Amino acid sequence: MASEHDVGSGAFAVGIYLTFSEFSFKNESISVAFQANPTELCICNKERIIVEAIKEIAKSIDFDPYRYRKDFPVLEQMIHGMPLVYLDNAATTQKPNAVINTIVNYYKRDNANVHRAIHQLGERATLAFEEARKKIAAFINAPSSRQIIFTRGTTESINLVASAWGEKFISEGDEIILTEMEHHSNLVPWQLLAKKVGAKLKFIPFTESGVLDFEVFERILSNRTRLVAITSMSNVFGTINPIKRITRMAKDRGIPVLLDGAQSVPHLPTDVQILDCDFLAFSGHKMLGPTGIGVLYAKINYLENMRPYQGGGEMIQSVWLERSTWNEIPHKFEAGTPNIAGAIAFGAAIDYLNRIGMSQITLYEQELTTYALNRMSEIDEIVIYGNAPERGGVISFNLGDIHPHDLSHFLDQQGIAVRAGHHCAQPIMRKLDIAATTRASFYFYNTKEEIDYLVDKLKEALKFFSP
Ligand code: ALA
Repeated sequence: MASEHDVGSGAFAVGIYLTFSEFSFKNESISVAFQANPTELCICNKERIIVEAIKEIAKSIDFDPYRYRKDFPVLEQMIHGMPLVYLDNAATTQKPNAVINTIVNYYKRDNANVHRAIHQLGERATLAFEEARKKIAAFINAPSSRQIIFTRGTTESINLVASAWGEKFISEGDEIILTEMEHHSNLVPWQLLAKKVGAKLKFIPFTESGVLDFEVFERILSNRTRLVAITSMSNVFGTINPIKRITRMAKDRGIPVLLDGAQSVPHLPTDVQILDCDFLAFSGHKMLGPTGIGVLYAKINYLENMRPYQGGGEMIQSVWLERSTWNEIPHKFEAGTPNIAGAIAFGAAIDYLNRIGMSQITLYEQELTTYALNRMSEIDEIVIYGNAPERGGVISFNLGDIHPHDLSHFLDQQGIAVRAGHHCAQPIMRKLDIAATTRASFYFYNTKEEIDYLVDKLKEALKFFSP
């Protein structure tokens, strides 16, 4: 980072806090420390200057994706004779050697069950498993690692809350507020709960730009609202929702907030204490970790008061034939043998991300996304869905009247991996009145050259499919 800017620490987007020490910009000496959400920044001149400064800093960052690409063996291969261009990161990311080797080494050297054995391997496995929990807690600034529950992923984390908290605290006539831009993981568990207890689901709509309509949100908050469950970043539009604003509005009325962080946590610095969310769900595999491991973070008082989610070993304190008592959190929610290797490797993924720095990742991905949006807009026949001012590296689009499946197949023949379909968000497709989109989604190892290549191939596709 350029030294004249002298940024103390900082990050923006979700969990957004910027703390600047002295720095000069356009001959102004600025000494400022504040916490804010960028959507609320542009108020006075000084803050405008700060925003400009951030943009300058962003440009000056010497981020070299090629340095990191070397750590990802999968990216070295050819697909149909062309170098792989992997642009399906919103679905899952690739894994660096550090993560792959952690899994291999765990099974080669340390494999044992956790919290059960009094032997050397058992101790090593338990220590590494609990170390991973601590790393994840620190990554999202959770006050305690007891607040980190290992799950199979975002979907299970949200199901856990719907079941263990929702079934106890939500009853007939109560209301749950969701948004129209949720993916199925943050929609279907609430549908099931609502049906079971007789609650009602209400929805914050999205506008044509793919941003949430806060007037409606204000209107539908009521004294029957028991939960606001919302995605912090849309997996279709890339919209980064103004979470701080949402939690503030809910908290003013004493309503808890659950964040679906599946798309945001991998890409943006996240601080649960600044966000003031009550629950946060995210997945390891979308942030360099293995599949089958994810996290539920929750505030302690919720965890203490929730019912167990599943029964079995590890989640108990004492068991009689007719009844049982529960283990302490987090173990109360981790029945059975967990995904030990997955959790430890997730910890290795966190180490890797920390070595790069989440602020650096955010800034680089924003630069890459702006570049991609500019390049893609050269193509008249392209329709891009969503143009929120705060957005991450997810671009959903359609190209002329080429079906996304055909386009995706065409791109695959050129070595490019994108996702085509409804992106596990069918209600969004219905509202947009389309069957599907093609989606390119980026991570820090993607390059501008890859985007240029994508744009070239989109142009070729138009010719190829034209009658
Ligand atoms: N929700 C994941 C995606 O957006 C699977 O691709």
